[in-house]
Amino acid sequence: MASFTLTDNQSGKSAEFPVLDSVLGSNVIDISKLHKEFGVYTLDNGLSMTGSCESKITYIDGNKGELLYRGYPIEELAEKKNYVEVIHLILTGELPSQEEYTVFERDMRQKRFPHEGIKKIFNAFPDSAHPMAMMSSAVSALSAFHHRHLDVSSDEEYREMSQRVVAKMPTIAAYTFRHSMGYPLIFPDMDRYFSENFLYMLRAFPTGKTEIKDVEIKCMDAIFTLHAEHEQNASTTTVRGVGSTSAHPYAAIVAGINALWGKAHGGANESVISQLEMIGSVENVDKYIAKAKDSNDEFRLMGFGHRVYKNFDPRAKVLKKLRDELRDELGVNSKLIEIANRIEEIALTDEYFVSRNLYPNIDFYSGTIFEALGIKKSMFTPIFVIGRTVGWVAQLIEQRRDPKAKIVRPRQRYIGPGKRHL
Ligand code: CMC
Repeated sequence: MASFTLTDNQSGKSAEFPVLDSVLGSNVIDISKLHKEFGVYTLDNGLSMTGSCESKITYIDGNKGELLYRGYPIEELAEKKNYVEVIHLILTGELPSQEEYTVFERDMRQKRFPHEGIKKIFNAFPDSAHPMAMMSSAVSALSAFHHRHLDVSSDEEYREMSQRVVAKMPTIAAYTFRHSMGYPLIFPDMDRYFSENFLYMLRAFPTGKTEIKDVEIKCMDAIFTLHAEHEQNASTTTVRGVGSTSAHPYAAIVAGINALWGKAHGGANESVISQLEMIGSVENVDKYIAKAKDSNDEFRLMGFGHRVYKNFDPRAKVLKKLRDELRDELGVNSKLIEIANRIEEIALTDEYFVSRNLYPNIDFYSGTIFEALGIKKSMFTPIFVIGRTVGWVAQLIEQRRDPKAKIVRPRQRYIGPGKRHL
């Protein structure tokens, strides 16, 4: 086995640490005996150099701009498979056969319905509440309504638990929107496919027919697929952190929802559109690019940069193509696209962005697609939640079944006062 030798220059002591092979990507040094050997910990702000677990779910090559779910490239899945097939893939490790799909898809439809008690929770929220605040509370309440199906050793119990939360998330998200608009909290439509049902639940009105175009279903489905999993990002790490204490699985998912809300993470999609609206016209773009480059200004270009991708985000590439398809069919807000295109053009050639590998990320394009679908800005991050729930659940299941998993408990470098007495 390959190993890595560390030497303490002060004491002259050396020790070997095993280097573990990864199937794809960088190998990892197992430093679990570091403190025992040298009496030191590592310091890694933002944990960007630290592998916190072993996982079989997602692989990212940030330099190439590659993303694989269970080995399959994201572009192929978004183009050739629907989101329910992707859910099956992420949860079980394999795409479903035709027979498996029929059973799985039917099960997922049946699990869309919320307990009536969940609906009542919405009455307590003001109309002005942010949908993410309502989602967080409603999903937290799910753990109060569903105590069962928590036996990690039973495939059947865990299948029930995971499918239930993935299936109910669009219903809960649609309720946050309907509540804020003062619309009745309608039932999901059992006759509609996953993504079509979500659009139906956003749009249905007591009077009139709910029109949903095929291209809209296709876009929504691809958006869910592109957001489904992204290995150990901030929200997934949060889910694993809570999961490591053996808390209720839905309590861990709620923690992920709250972590995703921030504008450095999932909240960026809402911020992108707010920023494009604030910029207002192509003529103002240069001024805001200058602000983004100014180290004394906190302004950042929303939808640019990524901790892992130092190349074009592969999800962004798929979305850019979809956005252009939608432009002709639905009439995307062309003023915002014009501003976005100008920003993209400058950022892809400007030395500041090029030297820092700041490329457009998924959120740069998803906002304009949501706009074209007539979806309110505050619903953008809840849609990210719908897509990502399956990833969180799969990571949680993997963690619960990993015999090497431990409670998450990092160390620190203490820089407070030395010991003192009263
Ligand atoms: N606009 C202007 N400058 C930027 C930006 C940006 N969007 N992002 C990074 N930089 C600069 C940053 O100021 C720093 O410059 P310097 O080296 O001179 O100090 C350098 O690039 C490195 O930045 P960093 O903050 O160390 O990078 P990070 O890996 O810690 O942060 C990020 C990644 C996504 C939080 C950050 O790029 C950002 O805030 N982007 C805007 C928000 C956004 O679009 N978030 C969505 C991420 S994709 C969705 C998801 O997976 O959650």
